[in-house]
Amino acid sequence: MARMSPDATPALSALSTQEALGAVVTWFEKSARTLPWRSDPEPWAVLVSEVMLQQTPVVRVLPAFERWMARWPTPNSLAADSPGEAIRAWGRLGYPRRALRLHAAAVTCRDHFGGAVPDEIADLRSLPGVGEYTAAAVAAFGFGQRRAVLDTNVRRVHARWLDGLDHPATATPRNDERERALALLPDDPSQAARVSISVMELGALVCTSRTPNCPRCPLLASCAWRAAGYPERSGRPRRQQGYEGTDRQCRGRLLDVLRSAASPVKKAELDNAWPDSNQRERALGSLIDDGLVTGAPTSGYRLPD
Ligand code: ADE
Repeated sequence: MARMSPDATPALSALSTQEALGAVVTWFEKSARTLPWRSDPEPWAVLVSEVMLQQTPVVRVLPAFERWMARWPTPNSLAADSPGEAIRAWGRLGYPRRALRLHAAAVTCRDHFGGAVPDEIADLRSLPGVGEYTAAAVAAFGFGQRRAVLDTNVRRVHARWLDGLDHPATATPRNDERERALALLPDDPSQAARVSISVMELGALVCTSRTPNCPRCPLLASCAWRAAGYPERSGRPRRQQGYEGTDRQCRGRLLDVLRSAASPVKKAELDNAWPDSNQRERALGSLIDDGLVTGAPTSGYRLPD
């Protein structure tokens, strides 16, 4: 990791937080990735991208997002299709319940919000699969509202820059953290959204969890973590779970078979997809419980209509 020794630059700059955030926006304008959901900040596109990005890296989301938006450019177009088609189009993004929830969110937009993504936080939170972060992101990036957008990247940048901690002290934001994040934002809503996306990108590209590139950071001069000598928290954040051999992988294999099938799939075909019968039965049962698969041994199995 490229860190700077605490005294490698002159004394901590007296830049105000606003000036420091201005430097982050300037950095963003030069260094940010060009991502389709940023150039077309239409609320539905923002919602789709944020749900996909909840648990999947940008590079894997990009092609799936483009296909999804070409096929379902509005909530109504997705709501008119079956949940099974959403699961099919989700492909290998992982955590496929998100596809089902996004479909249900589209149905809610159609049935309760005149086919539009709502712009009120409470209404956004009523959409399946939309939690605090996603609602704030859609409100800020899709509707240009002044909202604290606290994803893991923004929270880590704030924890380092302002608290001198390598990671946030709590697993989810507390009220004081929310209030501080909001207070940091400029009054003008569109500038506030610009600051939020810039800080988020800084966390994704420079102030990363394991390999921060401090010499490239526009917040270097005012960073409390650097000033404190980069202390590390004793309990490091959890490592990602492995995938090989897990129930998740088994569920993925069974879904792969069902996605590529045009008609109901016989149980024997699913049995061929995974060798461990206990794990397979458990995975199939959980896919049915989750509403991702429907059917029975006699009729065969398929994605939901
Ligand atoms: N741009 C807006 N939201 C984003 C996210 N969650 N991840 C990456 N880029 C984004």
